[in-house]
Amino acid sequence: MRILVTGASGLLGLNLALSAASVSGGGHLVFGTVKEHVLKTDAFQAIRTDLLSPGAVERLLDQTQPDWVIHCAAMANVDACEAEPEQARQLNSELPARLATCVARGGARLVHISTDAVFDGQRGGYSEEDAPNPLGIYARTKLEGERGVAEANPQAIIARVNLFGWSMSGSRSLGEFFFYNLGARKRVLGFTDVFFCPILANDIAPILLQLLEKDLSGLFHVVSRECASKYEFGARLARRFGLDESLITPTSVANGGLKAARSPNLTLRTDKLVAALGEPPPDLSTSIEHFYTLYQQGYPQYLKKMEKGE
Ligand SMILES: NC(=O)c1ccc[n+]([C@@H]2O[C@H](COP(=O)([O-])OP(=O)(O)OC[C@H]3O[C@@H](n4cnc5c(N)ncnc54)[C@H](OP(=O)(O)O)[C@@H]3O)[C@@H](O)[C@H]2O)c1
Repeated sequence: MRILVTGASGLLGLNLALSAASVSGGGHLVFGTVKEHVLKTDAFQAIRTDLLSPGAVERLLDQTQPDWVIHCAAMANVDACEAEPEQARQLNSELPARLATCVARGGARLVHISTDAVFDGQRGGYSEEDAPNPLGIYARTKLEGERGVAEANPQAIIARVNLFGWSMSGSRSLGEFFFYNLGARKRVLGFTDVFFCPILANDIAPILLQLLEKDLSGLFHVVSRECASKYEFGARLARRFGLDESLITPTSVANGGLKAARSPNLTLRTDKLVAALGEPPPDLSTSIEHFYTLYQQGYPQYLKKMEKGE
């Protein structure tokens, strides 16, 4: 398959593009878009483009002729969205709908990446049937993006994710936050009253590829089958890496000094995904183990070298 991954310099996009390119016997030819980042790799073909510039989406699809498009490019930083709401609207709401229209016209299949943050987190245990209630600009613009995609391209898969993993910058995920701070023996806060179900970015790729192979469409929760507080996540990660978990102070998110509102309980149900694929997504221990194995294999350095072009 010819697979186009947008946002291939980001946390999810880079890991997805690398995973899709390395599927053994899969024969995938992968293209990945970058905007600001320099990205040098032989694993896939990097294409520099600002997807918001006029005609960029059409040119990109014309150039790459994809069978499958996985749309990861977004303004994913919650506080940046609050600071620049118009940019957030263009990237998270308008662009997905425009891309979905163009992809539908060309006959390719689309996976649009969304977020667990479309829920207000008052209850937790959300299924795809539950009504979203986004708090803040990021969540609102992402929900508008979902709706625009579903309307423009009913065949599209919309995957709500929450993830961690290794990134080029080393600062894009909560896993990296705990690993690098604890490694430097710095004290950090761990929220005991914020719950989520993070899945390793690298473990998302095979799930999305299976959804595409099975020709499915619609909304899916693509998260870990196991949920935890952010504190527990940090403590478990510290234990696996042999780091000092006592450097994590358990506390309430109210003491975190965060600007944008955060939903406290973003635990999602994955029953629909399990029914579609016939197997559950990985649990947290499996994803943390995979995160650790990648570390042992020098994967974080491998990603950093891509940015330096070494
Ligand atoms: N990270 C999480 O924990 C999390 C949780 C839930 C959902 N999600 C969703 O997962 C998806 C990926 O998130 P992420 O964390 O991987 O994001 P990220 O690391 O911030 O990466 C964002 C990507 O978008 C690209 N981009 C931004 N503006 C662009 C533009 N105008 N034209 C072309 N590309 C542009 C960036 O390119 P450059 O860097 O080259 O500029 C980068 O590759 C998003 O849809 C996000 O909402 C993420």
